[in-house]
Amino acid sequence: MNHLFLIGFMGAGKSTVGRRVADTLGLPFLDLDEEIERAAGRSVAEIFAAEGEQAFRAAESGALASLADAEPAVVACGGGVVVDDENRRLLKALGHVIYLRVEADEALARIGDTSGRPLLAHDDAAAMASTLLAARETLYRTAADAVVDTSGTSVAEVASEVVTVARSLREAGG
Ligand code: S3P
Repeated sequence: MNHLFLIGFMGAGKSTVGRRVADTLGLPFLDLDEEIERAAGRSVAEIFAAEGEQAFRAAESGALASLADAEPAVVACGGGVVVDDENRRLLKALGHVIYLRVEADEALARIGDTSGRPLLAHDDAAAMASTLLAARETLYRTAADAVVDTSGTSVAEVASEVVTVARSLREAGG
């Protein structure tokens, strides 16, 4: 019950914000995608290309489950972590969860080159992003203890808001 998980769509700023929040809270920072890449010895895009999305999702669930034994950390999760029921249960069981919300068009603008995001590396990335975000919005909200809106907001402002929310969640316990 010790981690602070940041969830949300690709481009929401989970990793960038998460590093700052970890610094401020004096906690280690973990990026779930980087953990998967380290274990697999290849990039997320390479895993998708060689083994498919299902294999990536299995690795993602394994990486999340392994955090049960890890020291408390701020954890940036991949955008699709909430799709799996067991992952949502684990997130709740292992810590507090903050949903960083972003609009699809702003997310795409922040991402820029989508080649590292296989789910968006299509001709119509804008349509893919809004369809995927709409399909996941309820799951993000269901999984989260709190929502922080990042639209039109700087990284510093979002990080500061996340720290405030994280501290109040910790004080409230539960
Ligand atoms: C995914 C998001 C990515 C990465 C993978 C799948 C998704 O992480 O896990 O490409 O399903 O939304 P980021 O949200 O860190 O880009």
